[in-house]
Amino acid sequence: MENKAAIDKAKEHFGKLLEAQLERVEKIKTAPDWIDYSQLSPIKIGILPGDGIGPFIAAEAERVLRFMLDEDIKSGKIYLKTIEGLTIENRAKHNKAIPDDVLEEIKKYHVTLKGPTTTPRKGDPWPNIESCNVAMRKELDLFANVRPVRVPNQGIDWIFFRENTEDLYALGPYGIEVGPDIAIDFKLITSPGSERICRMALEYARKNNKTKVTCITKANVVKTTDGKFLEVFYNLAKEYPELQVDDWYIDIMTAKLVDEKRRREFQVMVLPNLYGDILTDEAAEFQGGVGTAGAANIGKQYAMFEAIHGSAPRMVKENRAIYADPASMIRAAAMLINHIGYTDKAKKLEMALDICGQYEKKLVITGRPNGATGKAFTDYLIDWLNNPKLQETWEGYVKG
Ligand code: IPM
Ligand code: MG
Repeated sequence: MENKAAIDKAKEHFGKLLEAQLERVEKIKTAPDWIDYSQLSPIKIGILPGDGIGPFIAAEAERVLRFMLDEDIKSGKIYLKTIEGLTIENRAKHNKAIPDDVLEEIKKYHVTLKGPTTTPRKGDPWPNIESCNVAMRKELDLFANVRPVRVPNQGIDWIFFRENTEDLYALGPYGIEVGPDIAIDFKLITSPGSERICRMALEYARKNNKTKVTCITKANVVKTTDGKFLEVFYNLAKEYPELQVDDWYIDIMTAKLVDEKRRREFQVMVLPNLYGDILTDEAAEFQGGVGTAGAANIGKQYAMFEAIHGSAPRMVKENRAIYADPASMIRAAAMLINHIGYTDKAKKLEMALDICGQYEKKLVITGRPNGATGKAFTDYLIDWLNNPKLQETWEGYVKG
């Protein structure tokens, strides 16, 4: 009898989740098309400093953003402002992943540059609220998490298209415990959700002269959901006959990324949310660690750009926040600039980051007092951006 009651309760819970997801699928199908930034005046950029090391690296990223967009900020074509309130303290106070008034404010901006925010888990001193990244991705329907990793001198030029609203993340806070011994989370994959991310990866490859797109799943074991993702991928790929497409399982893919010979073959990769979370941390390590990697969270109406790492509260506790690497957020800023249409400026910023972070390395960040501060590194970067020889020098480095 006791079991029956627990099962009935679980069924009811599951039924409600399904109702909400069926509604969501309809919304995806009828969503408005891509926003056209060239038609906006002004383009509104919001800065969300976050918490932990967030405000420290956000300040540096904002400095770079203002430097790069200086003219258009002055002319009023770009409007840039800090949005307050997305800190763990304020979120805990409201017991919400994103407090309502903050979310309302965020929605007034076309794009945001976001610093890391603390994600509590069971047992932390904070209430166990949902990750603010995950909530923002869902609220603004930022379905594509685009994460490039480039190490030119090792022949690595990857771009990951991580699905950002589904998989184990969609119902992350809504798992169930049935009796004292069983815990269940739900993995959700939908056809329109898979289609839009696979389409984006394939389109990216087509428009950027890439020759190969790889889909990563565990469809041999996780048959229904990963099976659907993979099936959608191959079906769509038929519309791109010029592209070579293949698929790998996540376990062997994780291994192949450390295979120096094979890994150069990969170009564009598309994968469900959790595999994407894990694989992109690994990939970023080749570029110098998660502190050097930025991510774009892109939807058809909004976009948010952020570092791929967390808020590093330990660094703050140990008074090391000024030594945090702002390169991750500055890379995110470069992606933001690119996304709103300043392609050449974005390229220039990426080149400067490569030179300062991987080649010349006049200043090196270690996260500790034996390394440079984030501010000093940013000064160094801006010096490079001011240097008219940037392009020439870069070409020399690549050839050398
Ligand atoms: C990321 C982060 C987040 C995620 C965390 C903070 C919830 O690891 O952006 O990759 O898992 O997506
Ligand atoms: Mg992650």
